[in-house]
Amino acid sequence: MSQLVLNHLSLVNFKSYQQAEINLSENVNCFTGDNGTGKTNLLDAIYYLAFCKSFFNPIDVQNIYNEEDFFMIQGKFNLKENEETIYCGNHKLKKKVFKRNDKEYSKLAEHIGVIPLVMVNPADTHIINDGSDVRRKFIDGVISQYDKTYLSKLLAYNKSLYQRNNLLKHFAEERRFDESLIDVYDHQLNDFGKFISNARKQFLQEFIPTFRTFYQRISQKAETVGFDYKSHLDEHPDLMELFELSRKDDRAARYTTKGIHKDDLIFTLEERPLRKFGSQGQQKTFVTALKMAQFNFMKEKKGLKPLLLLDDIFDKLDDQRVKSIMQMVSSEEFGQIFVTDTSRNRLEGLFDDIHQEVKYFEIDHLGKISEHHEKR
Ligand SMILES: Nc1ncnc2c1ncn2[C@@H]1O[C@H](COP(=O)(O)OP(=O)(O)OP(=O)(O)O)[C@@H](O)[C@H]1O
Ligand SMILES: [Mg+2]
Repeated sequence: MSQLVLNHLSLVNFKSYQQAEINLSENVNCFTGDNGTGKTNLLDAIYYLAFCKSFFNPIDVQNIYNEEDFFMIQGKFNLKENEETIYCGNHKLKKKVFKRNDKEYSKLAEHIGVIPLVMVNPADTHIINDGSDVRRKFIDGVISQYDKTYLSKLLAYNKSLYQRNNLLKHFAEERRFDESLIDVYDHQLNDFGKFISNARKQFLQEFIPTFRTFYQRISQKAETVGFDYKSHLDEHPDLMELFELSRKDDRAARYTTKGIHKDDLIFTLEERPLRKFGSQGQQKTFVTALKMAQFNFMKEKKGLKPLLLLDDIFDKLDDQRVKSIMQMVSSEEFGQIFVTDTSRNRLEGLFDDIHQEVKYFEIDHLGKISEHHEKR
């Protein structure tokens, strides 16, 4: 399998970093330091190079160090035997500049997928506890990363949906209703929706068993988990018919009440809803296994091991689960990984018996990053 490695990262005025330069290990990279020293910010910079945006803060001016005017992130990668430089410059008064090997992208979307990356973060438990849109976003995100047709059909569906909803609102305000205009949108939604629904089902058929295996590996088979795909199409397999049946309700509600934009995933633990019955550690295990399955999926589809960022993985998990995860991610199955923790001793203990290169970076309260070569 070809390689993806971030060899060098440089930052200027990104979040808590005025300036930073680091040379990374192609295997395991550990970032340690007290709370608030900038460990997560460093992972966010790497995330930025893959997704053209922060994992946390979509407002880019707030990602600029203090009162400065711009930030810059640059990464030197090894990508399938080629050296690649990815650059992002962001001036508070100008358009964001994103470059691959000195060539500027005209559309940021073109860059998505070039650097496959998976982030595991404490905020991930939102996927269990928030509304269904977060879960749809998760599967849509995974599928879109390897299937551009899926992404374009999804965007097209959402556009038609938006227009249909506007029309419903407009008709209600004008106190009239034109069936034939709504028909036009129903046909469009039906076309795109059928494709999306089939793709989601097909994806989950492959994804769920992989996810289960990861959960069992992390928990050492302590629990059984699963998830079901729920859709309005379960009861009315014909989308066109579903739109016709719900037209009266749509008219009253002034929006499209039924369709694949309401699909959801129901997560279960021992056959009960995870949201209500899962402990914090079990929920964290669940989302970690989801991310591992996502990693695996991207790896197979791209023929490339994505970068894996593990932020605060120790939070809420017991020692055995942490050890299972660390052994797994530092094996040949995974590629370059980035781990954060407040305790360097704990990390050293965990990586003591692995046969890969491990680099330790310690961050102090001034945001200075020092690499440690020898063990304490
Ligand atoms: N634009 C910015 N300018 C200056 N500092 C910033 C900016 N954005 C964030 N910070 C600072 O970065 C710090 C948080 O860094 P980060 O979340 O990376 O810490 P951490 O090392 O991961 O901490 P923890 O161990 O608590 O997770 C905060 O103190 C915050 O004030
Ligand atoms: Mg953090």
